[in-house]
Amino acid sequence: MINKCLFPVAGYGTRFLPATKAMPKEMLPVVNKPLIQYGVEEAHDAGMRRIAFVTGRTKRAIEDHFDITYELEDQISGTAKEDRLGEVRALIKDCTFSYTRQIEMKGLGHAILTGETLIGNEAFGVILADDLCVGTSAGVMSQLMAVYDKYQCSVVAVEKVPAQEVDKYGVVAGEFIEEGLMRVSDMVEKPPADQAPSNLAIIGRYILTPDIFAILRETAPGKGGEVQITDALLAQARQGKVIACRFAGQRFDCGSVDGFVAATNYFYDIYKKTQG
Ligand code: G1P
Repeated sequence: MINKCLFPVAGYGTRFLPATKAMPKEMLPVVNKPLIQYGVEEAHDAGMRRIAFVTGRTKRAIEDHFDITYELEDQISGTAKEDRLGEVRALIKDCTFSYTRQIEMKGLGHAILTGETLIGNEAFGVILADDLCVGTSAGVMSQLMAVYDKYQCSVVAVEKVPAQEVDKYGVVAGEFIEEGLMRVSDMVEKPPADQAPSNLAIIGRYILTPDIFAILRETAPGKGGEVQITDALLAQARQGKVIACRFAGQRFDCGSVDGFVAATNYFYDIYKKTQG
């Protein structure tokens, strides 16, 4: 049973400037809930209770969000408005939240390695909150968990993307071993379209076995001069220890304005229905 989920949240969110000048991009609301809460709810739905953040300067609002706000809560206590805090209160009650800071931005692989102090020697989930995912029946992290339970190795979520977009993602290739499950033999970070091994792109959901930390320590900077998790996973893939899962559901790239607006429209429809 995997109990820990790591959220790398130190990135700047430059695509959303000026909104993200003094506010973490993870706190941008999709309708009335910050992006990061969708991710933590997905981890919680997958049974994870120890939430670990690799954070950075200007990200304090995330810590405050997963804590009690005494004055506000006292003000609205006993009123209808209190219901709006129900979901986040449930998370705060069930989970613990730990934080460590990534002092320098040296890539996603470096961010995950920074989280080792919070994870230790056990398998763990990773959620990139920018990728907002809606699972068809179960959440995407729950789907990855089921794959991990069976294969006991690292698992990445993948989806097909148009050929002209593969250069935005880690891309995998390998052999399908079950419906929707591929044993990965090759993976490349952000390849040019004509060099991509497939059009199956990694989206921001991973389950990683803890040997990934030792591999990351030895991983030289790759694409963009940054330590890439994709490069470290390739070392595991070469031993047959990475499964790619074509998840059932939908994913919104909330790191882009278009994806953010699409997610907002999707959740606004749901919001309208719940408002009667
Ligand atoms: C990161 C990973 C990439 C993955 C992507 C998913 O890239 O490096 O392999 O496909 O997340 O969103 P980033 O979007 O941080 O550039």
